Amino acid sequence: MEIIESIEALRERLSGESSRALVPTMGNLHAGHLALVRKAGNLASCTVASIFVNRLQFGEGEDFDRYPRTFEEDCRKLVEAGTDILFAPTERELYPEPQQFTVDLPPVAKELCGAHRPGHFSGMATVVLKLFNIVNPHHAVFGKKDYQQLHLVKGMVSQFNLSVKIAEGDTIREEDGLAMSSRNRYLSPDERAQAPRLYFNLEKIASELRCGNRDFSVLEKLAGKDLEARGWMVDYVEIRDALSLAKPCANSSRLVVLGAARLGKTRLIDNLEAGIAQW
Ligand code: PAJ
Repeated sequence: MEIIESIEALRERLSGESSRALVPTMGNLHAGHLALVRKAGNLASCTVASIFVNRLQFGEGEDFDRYPRTFEEDCRKLVEAGTDILFAPTERELYPEPQQFTVDLPPVAKELCGAHRPGHFSGMATVVLKLFNIVNPHHAVFGKKDYQQLHLVKGMVSQFNLSVKIAEGDTIREEDGLAMSSRNRYLSPDERAQAPRLYFNLEKIASELRCGNRDFSVLEKLAGKDLEARGWMVDYVEIRDALSLAKPCANSSRLVVLGAARLGKTRLIDNLEAGIAQW
């Protein structure tokens, strides 16, 4: 695996590659990231992963400074997963001057996670657009774990007529159901034991939906109460249309249940698609 820090060197190295697949990450890699890298390997002859902790998508008081940085270990894992090139730019390389041009997103970016993390998705979309322009990939792979992020990236690609094709990776979970996340390492042993409760509640809602229950707000509230009773601070538990991420309507044929809640200082997010809904 080649490790490249400069945009110019990366562009030069990639110029001879006939097909490129990109997996953007912020590092501290786990099996979820690596599944995306393997998927990328099946899509193109040259697999590029990027590691960049993007300050622009972190809000005031969020965990930018303490975000886990484990570069050596990440490199070993990327080699094992078949990465050809790791793009690991410094902040100065990607943002040589304050980034004044940013991606303006549709209203849905201010809902769900966007309602609790102002500016987060614009910062995310801005760095993803920069990475697309630098790598010029034929394919890019994103995880369903960050469902709203995936939705916004797909919309950006479509409405800006970008030529990259977006591939999706299923959420990889620990044995007890907890979605793998770089932030899981912030959890104390007690919190870690409690953490699968978010998935448990989403699963409970998804199974009710599959059985035809349509009392959306009752289901959402019950889940929120269950988490709060166990000491979680709930940002939201919501049932949405899986394609538009709008509140479900009579035409919604696929649903998704999304949740975000804090356990101590750690904010966890998860979601589950609820299959075909028969209204
Ligand atoms: P990061 O949180 O490192 O995630 C990188 C990619 O891995 C994202 O596409 C995310 O959805 C996916 N991922 C994370 N956990 C996963 C899991 N348990 N199963 C499957 N895929 C998983 O998301 C970001 O970084 C950033 O916002 C980024 C897109 C890199 C822009 O800065």
